[in-house]
This record gives sequence, C-alpha cells and structure tokens, in this order.
Amino acid sequence: MKVLRTVKELTEFSRELRAQGKTIGLVPTMGALHSGHLSLVKRARGENDAVVVSVFVNPTQFNNPDDLSTYPRTERADASLLEGEQVDVMFAPSVQEIYPSGGDEGHTFNLGYVAEVMEGAMRPGHFQGVAQIVSKLLRLTVPHRAYFGEKDFQQIAVIRRMVLTENIDVEIVSCPIMREADGLALSSRNVRLTAEQRKVAPGIHKVLAESVADFNSKPIQETCDWVVKQINALPFCKVEYFSIVDGVTLKPVTAREDASHIVGCITVYCGDVRLIDNICYRK
Ligand code: PAJ
Repeated sequence: MKVLRTVKELTEFSRELRAQGKTIGLVPTMGALHSGHLSLVKRARGENDAVVVSVFVNPTQFNNPDDLSTYPRTERADASLLEGEQVDVMFAPSVQEIYPSGGDEGHTFNLGYVAEVMEGAMRPGHFQGVAQIVSKLLRLTVPHRAYFGEKDFQQIAVIRRMVLTENIDVEIVSCPIMREADGLALSSRNVRLTAEQRKVAPGIHKVLAESVADFNSKPIQETCDWVVKQINALPFCKVEYFSIVDGVTLKPVTAREDASHIVGCITVYCGDVRLIDNICYRK
C-alpha cells in the first residue's frame, strides 16, 4: 500500500490508473478506523481494480472546536488495517495541503432542503464542510465509485445532491450500518463513552428496533413520542432530535401512505458523547 500525502501524488496515481483503463473506488474517512469503515473498504475492494481510502480529519465540517480537538487520531493503526484489506492507496494529507488558502474558500454549495434539517439544523455549516472536502476528494481521485455508510444517512443524501449540482460523474454507493454484537452502531466516538455509558448506549438501537414492530399500527407521531420517551429514560441519555422522514427527500412523514421509503433518524447525547443512528421503517 502506498501512503500519499500530496495532491500531486494522488492526481498522478489516479491519472495513471485511468490511462490503463482501471476502475477506482474511493472510501472517504476521517480515520480512527473500525469495522464499519472496513465494510466500505471491503465492498470497494470487491467492485474496483484499485481502492483509495482517504484519512483526513476535515476541520471545516466541525462546528464544535472541542469535537475537533478530541477527535481520535490513530494513523499508524489505520494504515495497518488498510494494508490488511489490500488497499492500494491511503491518502493522508495535511490540512495545509487540502486548504492552502485556508478553509474559507468563498464557495457555498447549494445543498437545498436535505442539508437544512436534522444534522444541518443542529450543526450549522457542517454539511458545507462535508460537501467541500468530498467534492475535493472526488475531483482529485476521479473515482468510478465512492462509498458511504448509511450510519450517516443524511450525509449520503447531501452528497448525492452535491454530486448532482456540481456535475461530478461518480456512482455513490451506500452501505449498511455495522453494529457491535449488542446493537450499538460502530463509531469512532464510541471510545469516548465511559464504561457505564457504554453499557446503556445499545439501548438506543434496541428502542429503535422495537419501534419497528408496531410502526404500521400506530400514528407516526405516537411512534416518535414513544421512542423519545424510552431513550430519554435511559441513564445518561438525552435525545437531541428524532425525525421520521422520507428516505429520499428527508421531508417529515406524517402519514405512512406519503412515502415508500421511511427512516427514523436520531441523535442522542450519552453523557457528552453525541451518538447518531437510524432505523428503516419501510423500503
Ligand atoms: P467518518 O465518520 O470517518 O466515516 C467515514 C465513512 O464510514 C462514512 O461514510 C460513514 O457513514 C461510514 N461509517 C461510519 N460508521 C459506520 C458504521 N457503523 N457502519 C457503516 N458505515 C459507517 O463520515 C465521515 O467520516 C466524513 O464526514 C467524511 C465523509 C469522510 C468527510 O470528511
């Protein structure tokens, strides 16, 4: 595996592969890799001639400086995990390399409604930062396919919108959520949970999964209220938002007949760790 740190090296690598008619799969990450990330890498490995994984903690998508400074950084371990998955390139640039003129580049992406709600409302500027880095990574790598996890359900909708409006020719592949055996969605932030918080955190998925059982027999608002109440009753846990939305438009769904794809998206503070998860009610 090659570890590339500059834009020039990555562009040259990609140009060469394309000239040879090879397909490229890109997996963007912020490192601190776990099996959730690796599921994307494995999928990319199976579907492309070459796999590029970026490891870059993107400062422009953090609206909270503490979250940025406490974000785990484990580059050595990441490199050896990626090596084990037969990745061709780990792209691990410096902030200066990606943002030579600083993070504010005076370009605002038109991301529309999908970026305004839920995470967009709670984390102002977050999706602008995500669109900024992902568009750069796509333009540099020029992959045939790029892989994203459904754990960040809204992020996929935002990236699809960005790719469409920026006319970027790439297939966006969405991959299922990987969980611990007890149901907790794998996340780089889980390491920040205390032992006691870690014990209760799987309750989030448990409540969501239980809410699927009688989703069809209750008004949607009742499901919504029930989930919030159950999760708020867990020690350390406070729901930030829970929204039951159309899986494509992310508009709130008030009547089941209104959407063929329905997803419940949640963010919960477990102590001071912000956990994000979702559940599919209908597809
Ligand atoms: P990061 O949080 O490192 O996640 C990288 C990718 O791994 C994302 O597509 C995310 O949805 C996926 N992922 C994380 N946990 C997962 C899990 N438990 N199961 C399946 N997939 C999972 O998301 C980002 O980084 C950044 O916003 C990024 C897109 C890299 C832009 O900076």
